[in-house]
Amino acid sequence: MGADLHLDLAVPSGRGVRAALTDALRTAVRTGRLAPGTPLPSSRVLARDLGLARATVVDAYAELAAEGWLAARQGGATRVAPSAPTPGDASRPATVSAGPGVVHDLRPGRPDTSVFPRAAWAQAVRRALATAPDAALDYGDPAGHPQLRAALVSYLARVRGVRARPEQVVVAGGATEALRLLGGVLTERTGAGLAVEEHGLPVHRRMLDGLGRPTVVLAVDDEGACTDTLPALSAASGARAVLLTPAHQFPVGVPLAPARRTAAVAWAREVDGFVVEDDYDGEFRYDRRPVGALQGLDPERVVHLGTASKALAPGLRLGWMVLPEPLARSVTSRAPGSVGVVDQLALADLLDSGGYDRQVRTARRRYRRRREELAGVLEARAPAVRVVGHPAGLHALLDLPPGTEAEVVERARRRGIAVEGLATFRHPDALARRDGLVVGFATPSASAWSGAVTALGDLLAEIG
Ligand SMILES: Cc1ncc(COP(=O)(O)O)c(C=O)c1O
Repeated sequence: MGADLHLDLAVPSGRGVRAALTDALRTAVRTGRLAPGTPLPSSRVLARDLGLARATVVDAYAELAAEGWLAARQGGATRVAPSAPTPGDASRPATVSAGPGVVHDLRPGRPDTSVFPRAAWAQAVRRALATAPDAALDYGDPAGHPQLRAALVSYLARVRGVRARPEQVVVAGGATEALRLLGGVLTERTGAGLAVEEHGLPVHRRMLDGLGRPTVVLAVDDEGACTDTLPALSAASGARAVLLTPAHQFPVGVPLAPARRTAAVAWAREVDGFVVEDDYDGEFRYDRRPVGALQGLDPERVVHLGTASKALAPGLRLGWMVLPEPLARSVTSRAPGSVGVVDQLALADLLDSGGYDRQVRTARRRYRRRREELAGVLEARAPAVRVVGHPAGLHALLDLPPGTEAEVVERARRRGIAVEGLATFRHPDALARRDGLVVGFATPSASAWSGAVTALGDLLAEIG
Protein backbone atom coordinates (compact mmCIF):
# COMPACT_ATOMS: atom_id res chain seq x y z
CA MET A 1 0.00 0.00 0.00
CA GLY A 2 3.07 2.24 0.18
CA ALA A 3 4.00 4.87 2.73
CA ASP A 4 1.51 6.44 5.04
CA LEU A 5 1.44 9.99 3.81
CA HIS A 6 0.37 13.14 5.53
CA LEU A 7 -0.51 15.93 3.11
CA ASP A 8 -2.00 19.30 3.95
CA LEU A 9 -4.26 20.07 1.05
CA ALA A 10 -4.83 23.80 0.99
CA VAL A 11 -7.51 24.31 -1.64
CA PRO A 12 -8.14 28.02 -2.04
CA SER A 13 -11.40 28.87 -3.71
CA GLY A 14 -11.23 28.85 -7.48
CA ARG A 15 -8.40 26.34 -7.46
CA GLY A 16 -8.73 22.69 -8.36
CA VAL A 17 -8.30 19.90 -5.86
CA ARG A 18 -6.02 18.13 -8.31
CA ALA A 19 -3.73 21.17 -8.60
CA ALA A 20 -3.57 21.40 -4.81
CA LEU A 21 -2.68 17.71 -4.59
CA THR A 22 0.08 17.92 -7.22
CA ASP A 23 1.48 21.04 -5.49
CA ALA A 24 1.50 19.31 -2.11
CA LEU A 25 3.27 16.24 -3.54
CA ARG A 26 5.83 18.34 -5.43
CA THR A 27 6.59 20.29 -2.26
CA ALA A 28 6.95 17.08 -0.27
CA VAL A 29 9.53 15.77 -2.78
CA ARG A 30 11.32 19.08 -3.21
CA THR A 31 11.74 19.64 0.51
CA GLY A 32 13.02 16.11 1.04
CA ARG A 33 10.04 14.93 3.08
CA LEU A 34 9.62 12.23 0.42
CA ALA A 35 13.04 10.88 -0.55
CA PRO A 36 13.80 9.46 -4.02
CA GLY A 37 12.54 5.89 -4.27
CA THR A 38 9.89 6.26 -1.55
CA PRO A 39 6.75 4.24 -2.43
CA LEU A 40 3.53 6.26 -2.36
CA PRO A 41 0.17 5.01 -1.19
CA SER A 42 -1.92 3.47 -3.93
CA SER A 43 -4.33 5.87 -5.57
CA ARG A 44 -7.24 4.08 -3.92
CA VAL A 45 -5.76 4.41 -0.43
CA LEU A 46 -4.68 8.02 -0.82
CA ALA A 47 -8.05 8.96 -2.29
CA ARG A 48 -9.76 7.39 0.71
CA ASP A 49 -7.39 9.05 3.22
CA LEU A 50 -7.91 12.48 1.69
CA GLY A 51 -11.58 12.10 0.90
CA LEU A 52 -11.01 12.59 -2.84
CA ALA A 53 -12.21 10.86 -5.96
CA ARG A 54 -9.78 8.16 -6.97
CA ALA A 55 -9.55 9.60 -10.49
CA THR A 56 -8.17 12.84 -9.01
CA VAL A 57 -5.28 10.99 -7.42
CA VAL A 58 -4.68 8.89 -10.55
CA ASP A 59 -4.52 12.08 -12.66
CA ALA A 60 -2.21 13.82 -10.18
CA TYR A 61 0.17 10.83 -10.11
CA ALA A 62 0.18 10.74 -13.92
CA GLU A 63 0.96 14.46 -14.17
CA LEU A 64 3.83 14.20 -11.69
CA ALA A 65 5.18 11.14 -13.47
CA ALA A 66 5.15 13.07 -16.75
CA GLU A 67 7.07 15.88 -15.08
CA GLY A 68 9.66 13.45 -13.71
CA TRP A 69 8.81 13.73 -10.03
CA LEU A 70 7.31 10.24 -9.74
CA ALA A 71 7.98 6.92 -11.39
CA ALA A 72 5.16 4.49 -12.03
CA ARG A 73 5.84 0.84 -12.80
CA GLN A 74 3.29 -1.46 -14.39
CA GLY A 75 1.76 -3.50 -11.58
CA GLY A 76 4.01 -1.90 -8.93
CA ALA A 77 3.76 0.99 -6.53
CA THR A 78 4.16 4.54 -7.73
CA ARG A 79 7.39 5.86 -6.21
CA VAL A 80 9.23 9.11 -5.95
CA ALA A 81 11.51 9.08 -9.00
CA PRO A 82 15.09 8.08 -8.19
CA SER A 83 16.27 11.19 -10.03
CA ALA A 84 13.88 13.59 -8.30
CA PRO A 85 15.69 16.62 -6.92
CA THR A 86 16.20 16.71 -3.18
CA PRO A 87 17.34 19.57 -0.92
CA GLY A 88 20.93 18.35 -0.67
CA ASP A 89 21.18 17.37 -4.34
CA ALA A 90 24.09 18.87 -6.25
CA SER A 91 21.84 19.18 -9.29
CA ARG A 92 19.93 21.88 -7.48
CA PRO A 93 21.22 25.39 -7.73
CA ALA A 94 22.91 26.43 -4.50
CA THR A 95 21.05 29.71 -4.47
CA VAL A 96 17.87 30.08 -2.49
CA SER A 97 17.17 33.53 -3.83
CA ALA A 98 15.45 32.26 -6.97
CA GLY A 99 12.37 31.85 -4.79
CA PRO A 100 10.51 28.99 -3.20
CA GLY A 101 9.91 26.00 -5.39
CA VAL A 102 12.64 26.76 -7.91
CA VAL A 103 14.44 23.64 -9.09
CA HIS A 104 15.94 24.95 -12.34
CA ASP A 105 17.26 28.49 -12.12
CA LEU A 106 17.28 29.98 -15.63
CA ARG A 107 16.71 33.57 -14.61
CA PRO A 108 18.39 35.97 -17.01
CA GLY A 109 21.09 38.46 -16.12
CA ARG A 110 23.28 36.26 -14.00
CA PRO A 111 26.56 34.44 -14.51
CA ASP A 112 27.31 31.00 -13.12
CA THR A 113 28.61 32.14 -9.73
CA SER A 114 30.10 28.69 -9.07
CA VAL A 115 32.94 29.59 -11.48
CA PHE A 116 33.85 32.83 -9.75
CA PRO A 117 37.67 32.79 -9.67
CA ARG A 118 37.97 32.62 -5.90
CA ALA A 119 41.68 31.82 -5.81
CA ALA A 120 42.61 34.56 -8.30
CA TRP A 121 40.44 37.09 -6.46
CA ALA A 122 41.93 36.12 -3.09
CA GLN A 123 45.42 36.54 -4.54
CA ALA A 124 44.50 39.91 -6.01
CA VAL A 125 43.12 41.06 -2.63
CA ARG A 126 46.27 39.84 -0.88
CA ARG A 127 48.51 41.65 -3.36
CA ALA A 128 46.41 44.81 -3.05
CA LEU A 129 46.71 44.77 0.74
CA ALA A 130 50.42 44.03 0.61
CA THR A 131 51.22 46.90 -1.73
CA ALA A 132 48.68 49.66 -0.99
CA PRO A 133 50.08 52.49 1.12
CA ASP A 134 48.27 53.33 4.37
CA ALA A 135 46.90 56.45 2.72
CA ALA A 136 44.91 54.29 0.29
CA LEU A 137 42.77 53.19 3.25
CA ASP A 138 41.63 56.76 3.95
CA TYR A 139 38.50 58.26 2.34
CA GLY A 140 39.42 58.17 -1.28
CA ASP A 141 38.56 59.93 -4.50
CA PRO A 142 34.75 59.70 -4.91
CA ALA A 143 35.31 58.96 -8.60
CA GLY A 144 37.23 55.82 -7.68
CA HIS A 145 40.82 54.80 -6.96
CA PRO A 146 43.20 56.15 -9.62
CA GLN A 147 44.78 52.72 -10.07
CA LEU A 148 41.45 51.14 -11.01
CA ARG A 149 40.47 54.02 -13.25
CA ALA A 150 43.78 53.70 -15.12
CA ALA A 151 43.41 49.91 -15.38
CA LEU A 152 39.87 50.32 -16.77
CA VAL A 153 41.02 52.81 -19.37
CA SER A 154 43.54 50.42 -20.85
CA TYR A 155 41.29 47.34 -20.55
CA LEU A 156 38.31 49.08 -22.18
CA ALA A 157 40.47 50.52 -24.95
CA ARG A 158 41.94 47.11 -25.73
CA VAL A 159 38.77 45.02 -25.44
CA ARG A 160 35.94 47.40 -26.34
CA GLY A 161 37.55 50.23 -28.27
CA VAL A 162 36.61 52.82 -25.63
CA ARG A 163 38.54 56.10 -25.93
CA ALA A 164 39.12 57.75 -22.57
CA ARG A 165 41.51 59.22 -20.04
CA PRO A 166 41.33 58.20 -16.35
CA GLU A 167 39.66 61.54 -15.46
CA GLN A 168 36.65 60.40 -17.47
CA VAL A 169 36.12 57.23 -15.45
CA VAL A 170 33.85 57.01 -12.40
CA VAL A 171 33.66 53.78 -10.41
CA ALA A 172 30.27 52.81 -8.96
CA GLY A 173 28.43 50.02 -7.16
CA GLY A 174 27.51 48.20 -10.37
CA ALA A 175 26.15 49.62 -13.61
CA THR A 176 22.88 50.15 -11.76
CA GLU A 177 24.33 52.66 -9.33
CA ALA A 178 26.23 54.28 -12.20
CA LEU A 179 22.95 54.75 -14.04
CA ARG A 180 21.24 56.17 -10.96
CA LEU A 181 23.95 58.81 -10.53
CA LEU A 182 24.10 59.57 -14.23
CA GLY A 183 20.31 59.62 -14.64
CA GLY A 184 20.08 62.31 -11.96
CA VAL A 185 22.62 64.48 -13.75
CA LEU A 186 21.04 63.96 -17.17
CA THR A 187 17.44 64.66 -16.14
CA GLU A 188 18.55 67.80 -14.35
CA ARG A 189 20.61 68.95 -17.29
CA THR A 190 18.09 68.20 -20.04
CA GLY A 191 14.95 68.94 -18.02
CA ALA A 192 13.37 65.81 -19.48
CA GLY A 193 13.15 62.06 -18.95
CA LEU A 194 15.41 59.65 -20.82
CA ALA A 195 14.27 57.67 -23.82
CA VAL A 196 14.59 53.94 -23.10
CA GLU A 197 14.22 50.81 -25.22
CA GLU A 198 10.72 49.34 -25.13
CA HIS A 199 12.14 46.15 -23.68
CA GLY A 200 14.77 46.62 -21.00
CA LEU A 201 15.70 45.99 -17.39
CA PRO A 202 12.69 47.01 -15.24
CA VAL A 203 14.88 48.04 -12.32
CA HIS A 204 16.67 50.56 -14.54
CA ARG A 205 13.47 51.99 -15.94
CA ARG A 206 11.82 52.31 -12.54
CA MET A 207 14.92 53.99 -11.16
CA LEU A 208 14.91 56.53 -13.98
CA ASP A 209 11.16 57.09 -13.65
CA GLY A 210 11.76 57.76 -9.95
CA LEU A 211 13.91 60.78 -10.81
CA GLY A 212 10.78 62.81 -11.46
CA ARG A 213 10.88 62.88 -15.26
CA PRO A 214 9.19 59.80 -16.72
CA THR A 215 11.02 57.79 -19.34
CA VAL A 216 9.73 57.72 -22.92
CA VAL A 217 9.68 54.64 -25.15
CA LEU A 218 11.87 53.88 -28.12
CA ALA A 219 10.70 50.94 -30.25
CA VAL A 220 13.00 47.93 -30.80
CA ASP A 221 12.95 45.65 -33.85
CA ASP A 222 15.30 43.05 -35.32
CA GLU A 223 17.96 45.72 -35.96
CA GLY A 224 17.91 46.92 -32.36
CA ALA A 225 16.49 50.18 -31.04
CA CYS A 226 14.85 52.36 -33.70
CA THR A 227 17.23 55.26 -33.16
CA ASP A 228 16.21 56.73 -36.51
CA THR A 229 13.00 57.78 -34.74
CA LEU A 230 14.84 59.70 -32.00
CA PRO A 231 14.43 63.12 -33.67
CA ALA A 232 10.64 62.73 -33.72
CA LEU A 233 10.61 61.30 -30.22
CA SER A 234 12.63 64.13 -28.74
CA ALA A 235 10.56 66.72 -30.62
CA ALA A 236 7.44 65.28 -28.99
CA SER A 237 8.78 64.62 -25.50
CA GLY A 238 11.80 66.88 -25.00
CA ALA A 239 14.06 63.86 -24.34
CA ARG A 240 17.72 64.62 -25.04
CA ALA A 241 19.28 61.47 -23.64
CA VAL A 242 18.71 57.84 -24.55
CA LEU A 243 19.65 54.61 -22.79
CA LEU A 244 20.66 51.86 -25.24
CA THR A 245 22.14 48.36 -25.12
CA PRO A 246 23.94 48.53 -28.50
CA ALA A 247 26.18 45.45 -28.34
CA HIS A 248 23.34 43.07 -27.44
CA GLN A 249 19.88 44.49 -26.91
CA PHE A 250 18.57 43.48 -23.52
CA PRO A 251 16.64 41.23 -23.57
CA VAL A 252 15.85 40.80 -27.29
CA GLY A 253 19.47 39.92 -28.08
CA VAL A 254 20.15 41.72 -31.36
CA PRO A 255 23.05 44.12 -31.92
CA LEU A 256 22.26 47.68 -32.95
CA ALA A 257 22.57 47.95 -36.75
CA PRO A 258 25.48 50.12 -37.98
CA ALA A 259 23.20 52.79 -39.51
CA ARG A 260 21.31 53.04 -36.23
CA ARG A 261 24.54 53.43 -34.27
CA THR A 262 25.41 56.38 -36.47
CA ALA A 263 21.88 57.79 -36.21
CA ALA A 264 22.00 57.72 -32.40
CA VAL A 265 25.25 59.65 -32.26
CA ALA A 266 24.13 62.14 -34.94
CA TRP A 267 20.93 62.80 -32.99
CA ALA A 268 22.84 63.39 -29.72
CA ARG A 269 25.04 65.96 -31.49
CA GLU A 270 22.02 67.61 -33.05
CA VAL A 271 20.08 68.06 -29.80
CA ASP A 272 23.12 68.67 -27.57
CA GLY A 273 22.23 65.44 -25.80
CA PHE A 274 23.77 62.11 -24.81
CA VAL A 275 23.63 58.43 -25.59
CA VAL A 276 24.07 56.15 -22.60
CA GLU A 277 25.54 52.86 -23.73
CA ASP A 278 24.86 50.01 -21.28
CA ASP A 279 27.61 47.60 -22.30
CA TYR A 280 26.54 44.99 -19.77
CA ASP A 281 27.79 41.89 -21.63
CA GLY A 282 30.00 43.32 -24.39
CA GLU A 283 32.80 40.80 -23.81
CA PHE A 284 30.49 37.87 -24.45
CA ARG A 285 30.13 37.51 -28.19
CA TYR A 286 30.52 34.00 -29.60
CA ASP A 287 30.79 34.43 -33.36
CA ARG A 288 34.19 36.16 -33.46
CA ARG A 289 32.59 39.35 -34.73
CA PRO A 290 32.61 41.51 -31.62
CA VAL A 291 31.06 44.92 -32.03
CA GLY A 292 33.14 47.71 -30.53
CA ALA A 293 31.67 50.11 -28.04
CA LEU A 294 29.49 52.90 -29.40
CA GLN A 295 31.51 55.26 -27.20
CA GLY A 296 34.39 54.95 -29.68
CA LEU A 297 32.27 56.78 -32.27
CA ASP A 298 31.99 59.94 -30.18
CA PRO A 299 33.41 60.09 -26.64
CA GLU A 300 31.89 63.58 -26.20
CA ARG A 301 28.35 62.33 -26.76
CA VAL A 302 28.33 58.73 -25.54
CA VAL A 303 28.55 57.62 -21.92
CA HIS A 304 29.77 54.04 -21.59
CA LEU A 305 28.50 51.91 -18.66
CA GLY A 306 30.21 48.66 -17.73
CA THR A 307 30.07 46.06 -15.00
CA ALA A 308 31.98 43.18 -13.47
CA SER A 309 28.66 41.45 -12.74
CA LYS A 310 28.86 39.13 -15.77
CA ALA A 311 32.56 38.29 -15.96
CA LEU A 312 33.05 38.00 -12.18
CA ALA A 313 29.94 38.16 -9.96
CA PRO A 314 27.03 40.54 -9.38
CA GLY A 315 27.54 40.31 -5.62
CA LEU A 316 30.80 42.25 -5.93
CA ARG A 317 28.77 45.33 -6.94
CA LEU A 318 31.53 46.66 -9.17
CA GLY A 319 30.73 48.81 -12.15
CA TRP A 320 32.00 51.87 -13.93
CA MET A 321 31.13 54.62 -16.35
CA VAL A 322 33.19 56.51 -18.88
CA LEU A 323 31.91 60.03 -19.49
CA PRO A 324 32.77 63.25 -21.27
CA GLU A 325 34.79 65.21 -18.70
CA PRO A 326 32.17 67.86 -17.77
CA LEU A 327 29.63 65.10 -17.09
CA ALA A 328 32.24 63.13 -15.15
CA ARG A 329 32.71 66.13 -12.84
CA SER A 330 28.94 66.52 -12.31
CA VAL A 331 28.49 62.82 -11.61
CA THR A 332 31.48 62.75 -9.26
CA SER A 333 30.01 65.57 -7.22
CA ARG A 334 27.10 63.19 -6.46
CA ALA A 335 29.19 60.03 -6.20
CA PRO A 336 29.18 58.54 -2.73
CA GLY A 337 32.44 56.62 -3.26
CA SER A 338 30.43 53.53 -2.47
CA VAL A 339 32.90 50.85 -3.57
CA GLY A 340 35.44 49.73 -0.99
CA VAL A 341 39.04 50.44 -1.88
CA VAL A 342 40.25 46.87 -1.35
CA ASP A 343 37.80 45.58 -3.95
CA GLN A 344 38.77 48.40 -6.31
CA LEU A 345 42.45 47.57 -5.99
CA ALA A 346 41.79 43.85 -6.38
CA LEU A 347 39.89 44.50 -9.61
CA ALA A 348 42.70 46.75 -10.85
CA ASP A 349 45.17 43.95 -10.12
CA LEU A 350 43.04 41.38 -11.93
CA LEU A 351 42.69 43.66 -14.97
CA ASP A 352 46.40 44.51 -15.12
CA SER A 353 47.62 40.96 -14.50
CA GLY A 354 45.48 39.38 -17.23
CA GLY A 355 43.42 37.42 -14.66
CA TYR A 356 40.24 39.20 -15.77
CA ASP A 357 40.88 38.30 -19.43
CA ARG A 358 41.48 34.67 -18.46
CA GLN A 359 38.21 34.57 -16.55
CA VAL A 360 36.30 36.12 -19.48
CA ARG A 361 37.82 33.59 -21.90
CA THR A 362 36.88 30.65 -19.66
CA ALA A 363 33.35 31.94 -19.09
CA ARG A 364 32.93 32.74 -22.78
CA ARG A 365 33.77 29.14 -23.77
CA ARG A 366 31.33 27.79 -21.20
CA TYR A 367 28.46 30.08 -22.15
CA ARG A 368 29.00 29.62 -25.89
CA ARG A 369 28.67 25.86 -25.41
CA ARG A 370 25.55 26.27 -23.34
CA ARG A 371 23.91 28.54 -25.88
CA GLU A 372 24.64 25.95 -28.57
CA GLU A 373 23.23 23.19 -26.39
CA LEU A 374 20.10 25.22 -25.72
CA ALA A 375 19.62 25.81 -29.45
CA GLY A 376 20.21 22.08 -30.10
CA VAL A 377 17.64 21.00 -27.52
CA LEU A 378 15.07 23.39 -28.98
CA GLU A 379 15.73 22.29 -32.54
CA ALA A 380 15.25 18.66 -31.55
CA ARG A 381 12.32 19.06 -29.19
CA ALA A 382 10.50 22.29 -29.97
CA PRO A 383 11.14 23.34 -33.57
CA ALA A 384 8.38 25.98 -33.37
CA VAL A 385 10.42 27.89 -30.80
CA ARG A 386 13.11 30.08 -32.34
CA VAL A 387 16.16 31.52 -30.57
CA VAL A 388 16.23 35.22 -31.40
CA GLY A 389 19.30 37.36 -31.75
CA HIS A 390 23.01 36.88 -32.05
CA PRO A 391 25.16 34.29 -30.38
CA ALA A 392 26.21 36.47 -27.46
CA GLY A 393 25.67 37.21 -23.82
CA LEU A 394 24.34 35.19 -20.95
CA HIS A 395 20.71 34.96 -21.96
CA ALA A 396 18.59 34.21 -25.02
CA LEU A 397 15.14 35.29 -26.05
CA LEU A 398 13.01 32.43 -27.32
CA ASP A 399 10.23 33.58 -29.63
CA LEU A 400 6.97 31.89 -28.70
CA PRO A 401 3.86 31.46 -30.83
CA PRO A 402 1.52 34.44 -30.33
CA GLY A 403 -0.67 34.23 -27.26
CA THR A 404 1.28 31.47 -25.50
CA GLU A 405 3.69 33.38 -23.25
CA ALA A 406 1.61 33.65 -20.08
CA GLU A 407 0.69 29.98 -20.21
CA VAL A 408 4.28 28.84 -20.81
CA VAL A 409 5.58 30.99 -17.95
CA GLU A 410 2.92 29.60 -15.61
CA ARG A 411 3.68 26.02 -16.60
CA ALA A 412 7.39 26.67 -16.08
CA ARG A 413 6.68 28.04 -12.64
CA ARG A 414 4.66 24.98 -11.72
CA ARG A 415 7.58 22.78 -12.70
CA GLY A 416 10.08 24.75 -10.72
CA ILE A 417 11.73 26.34 -13.79
CA ALA A 418 12.61 29.99 -13.12
CA VAL A 419 12.48 31.91 -16.41
CA GLU A 420 10.98 35.25 -17.35
CA GLY A 421 8.39 36.13 -19.94
CA LEU A 422 9.22 39.02 -22.25
CA ALA A 423 6.34 40.94 -20.64
CA THR A 424 8.49 41.36 -17.50
CA PHE A 425 10.81 43.63 -19.46
CA ARG A 426 8.22 45.61 -21.38
CA HIS A 427 7.82 49.34 -20.80
CA PRO A 428 4.23 50.11 -19.77
CA ASP A 429 3.88 52.45 -22.77
CA ALA A 430 5.34 50.00 -25.31
CA LEU A 431 3.28 49.13 -28.34
CA ALA A 432 5.06 45.82 -29.05
CA ARG A 433 3.21 42.68 -28.08
CA ARG A 434 5.68 39.96 -28.93
CA ASP A 435 5.53 36.66 -26.99
CA GLY A 436 8.81 35.32 -25.72
CA LEU A 437 10.71 33.59 -22.98
CA VAL A 438 13.93 35.10 -21.66
CA VAL A 439 16.27 32.32 -20.58
CA GLY A 440 19.44 32.87 -18.58
CA PHE A 441 21.54 29.96 -19.79
CA ALA A 442 24.57 31.10 -17.78
CA THR A 443 22.83 30.99 -14.41
CA PRO A 444 22.92 27.27 -13.45
CA SER A 445 26.06 25.68 -12.09
CA ALA A 446 27.74 23.04 -14.26
CA SER A 447 26.00 20.21 -12.42
CA ALA A 448 22.57 21.86 -12.69
CA TRP A 449 22.78 22.86 -16.36
CA SER A 450 21.84 19.65 -18.13
CA GLY A 451 18.82 19.07 -15.86
CA ALA A 452 17.70 22.64 -16.45
CA VAL A 453 18.00 22.58 -20.24
CA THR A 454 16.28 19.18 -20.38
CA ALA A 455 13.40 20.43 -18.21
CA LEU A 456 13.05 23.48 -20.45
CA GLY A 457 13.08 21.27 -23.56
CA ASP A 458 10.36 19.05 -22.03
CA LEU A 459 8.25 22.10 -21.31
CA LEU A 460 8.62 23.67 -24.75
CA ALA A 461 8.13 20.35 -26.55
CA GLU A 462 4.51 20.64 -25.48
CA ILE A 463 3.99 23.66 -27.65
CA GLY A 464 5.60 22.02 -30.67
C1 LIG B 1 20.77 45.23 -19.17
C2 LIG B 1 21.65 45.13 -17.97
N1 LIG B 1 22.42 46.16 -17.67
C3 LIG B 1 23.25 46.12 -16.60
C4 LIG B 1 23.33 45.01 -15.81
C5 LIG B 1 24.33 44.96 -14.68
O1 LIG B 1 23.95 45.64 -13.59
P1 LIG B 1 24.90 45.69 -12.34
O2 LIG B 1 26.27 46.08 -12.78
O3 LIG B 1 24.28 46.72 -11.46
O4 LIG B 1 24.91 44.33 -11.70
C6 LIG B 1 22.53 43.92 -16.07
C7 LIG B 1 22.55 42.76 -15.20
O5 LIG B 1 21.64 41.99 -15.13
C8 LIG B 1 21.68 43.99 -17.21
O6 LIG B 1 20.91 42.94 -17.53
